[in-house]
Amino acid sequence: MALQGNEHDHHPAGPDDLRSPCPVLNTLANHGLIARNGRDITATQLKSAIQYIGLGFDVATALVSRVFEVHADDPSHAPPGTSRAGLRDPNQVNKDGIPVLNLDQVGRPHALEHDVSITRQDRELGDCIHLDPDLYKQFIQASQDGRYRSSVLGSYRKTRYEEQKRINPHLQFGKFEHYVGCAEMAALRCVFGQGVSRGVPGEYVRAVFGDERLPYNEGWKPRRLKAFFPEMIPVLLLISHYAWPF
Ligand code: HEM
Repeated sequence: MALQGNEHDHHPAGPDDLRSPCPVLNTLANHGLIARNGRDITATQLKSAIQYIGLGFDVATALVSRVFEVHADDPSHAPPGTSRAGLRDPNQVNKDGIPVLNLDQVGRPHALEHDVSITRQDRELGDCIHLDPDLYKQFIQASQDGRYRSSVLGSYRKTRYEEQKRINPHLQFGKFEHYVGCAEMAALRCVFGQGVSRGVPGEYVRAVFGDERLPYNEGWKPRRLKAFFPEMIPVLLLISHYAWPF
């Protein structure tokens, strides 16, 4: 896949472009690494884009195969090939018959989108898809030295849980949501972190969450050695240790 260059310059979403609650998927669309309009994205395109920024083939394949399943609201009655974490509608294919996904479907209820986000409000309380300016401001002040290590990311998730528990009487947050939230933080840590101990620089966090832009200008480069499960899982467990709210 091409690096920087006109084709992959950053352009914010236009009014008709579809976007998701995931800042990283929106970033990929803003760089044209997946369809800029957020529509008709194939599994191959999505897998290739998330591997380009730094996830290993194993993680990318597991994640994309799961989300490309057809969505079932009730997992106990899910027909084969469907699941709760699946995001597609039945028979959703492009003109060549290849399964596709639109970015707004990433925010569909009763699937992956969950309460206690870092920068989005709970569905019950407001907009669970777009960046919340107050939550964003709070997050960019969350690290004392401007670096987001696993301990900071995990502890901050726990702080967010306590805040939402206080203000959302219908909070939906169990172990599934906890691990999904920690996996998001682990992916962020692995893709944008600077090695084992220095964490993710604040400038990178501001580029990705604030501008939905890859932080090339701030010095980031896609990792050459990608993050495979043996790296991702310990990072996820460390973040979960700091975030554990139960
Ligand atoms: C197939 C690819 C992906 C899918 C389907 C996906 C899906 C999602 C969804 C549904 C959310 C919203 C969760 C919520 O309610 O807060 C989310 C948030 C998030 N995702 Fe992704 N994501 C993908 C790839 C990635 C990658 C590659 C990264 C990091 C490198 C990433 C990092 C994040 C982060 C940090 C959040 C948290 C946003 C917040 O809490 O404010 N995602 N993702």
